Amino acid sequence: MNLRIAVLPGDGIGPEISRQGVEVMSAVCRRFGHTVSYEYAICGAGAIDKVGDPFPEETFQTCMRADAVLFSAIGDPRYDNDPTAPVRPEQGLLAMRKRLGLFANIRPIQTFPSLLHNSPLKDDIVRDADFICIRELTGGLYFGEKYQDEERAYDTMAYTRNEVERILRVAFDYARRRRHHVTVVDKANILVSSRLWRKVAQAVAQENPDVTTDYMYVDNAAMRMIQEPRFFDVIVTENTFGDILTDEASCITGSMGLLPSASTGEHTPLFEPIHGSWPQAKGKNIANPLAQILSVAMLFEHFGLTAEGQVIRDAVNASLEANIRTPEIQVPGGAHYGTTEVGAWIVDYISRG
Ligand code: IPM
Ligand code: MG
Repeated sequence: MNLRIAVLPGDGIGPEISRQGVEVMSAVCRRFGHTVSYEYAICGAGAIDKVGDPFPEETFQTCMRADAVLFSAIGDPRYDNDPTAPVRPEQGLLAMRKRLGLFANIRPIQTFPSLLHNSPLKDDIVRDADFICIRELTGGLYFGEKYQDEERAYDTMAYTRNEVERILRVAFDYARRRRHHVTVVDKANILVSSRLWRKVAQAVAQENPDVTTDYMYVDNAAMRMIQEPRFFDVIVTENTFGDILTDEASCITGSMGLLPSASTGEHTPLFEPIHGSWPQAKGKNIANPLAQILSVAMLFEHFGLTAEGQVIRDAVNASLEANIRTPEIQVPGGAHYGTTEVGAWIVDYISRG
């Protein structure tokens, strides 16, 4: 296969983990005889500095030309405590999602047996937890009408039937390939937008009698997720709810640095870690590259290249078993490996075949 990849390293630790993702991608392509080409583009705070726009038109065009986007992270502390900044790096992320039509964000939550100790939750609660959170990504509170003056401000959570229906269909498709169980997470006791979700979900559920569908309020889901994570198979939910729940879910796996995601929809699919740009770690070679590397596995799998994805997953598991780990997941007394050392070990493992 011939793959054209748009690479968007972004800000903070982004460029460091991006490099590891690209190296792993190239190693897999060499091993399986695929050709791959990369086109780099700017985004986020770096792009604001260079051209005043966190998602420049040229970057958009680069993404549109590619088969897939390998994205890393956006964000810069210069903007975090400045609510008056007219342009913010995160707007680049939102523009990217919106313009590429990436309405479905797939966030798999899994545990690694060798990392159970790393979760703040008890081993027997998290062991074998394995679910997918499908977060609606181009609607809801993030994109609804906004207003702000000195005295008053609001965001709105707006959804159309079509937006709800298409994300639900993604969820049911995933469930059919997994354990046939969808949990629709909303706040239908309070929010009318959630009532629309529930109504549409009930209709789609009826068309899918082979799938067990249940409905859960988001507050209850937040509790259930850490009380009994094995209950879940596929969760589907609104943009903001999904943002919050997936950070919480990362505690099941043990580190934000381990969770990849795929965003799909109308145009070029995009693969990225769920974590942010961790500016404090920038340049220190301590960021965990595994979330980025696993997002490369998701990229291959998206194109039906499951053996390629599996090789990456095997290499990641082997690195964990061998204790080749970045500091935040290392066992007490274990040696610390940097971003580049973990990446190089995995590339070597893949290349040795
Ligand atoms: C995520 C991130 C982003 C979001 C931020 C960086 C804008 O938290 O992808 O979950 O809120 O969507
Ligand atoms: Mg988030």
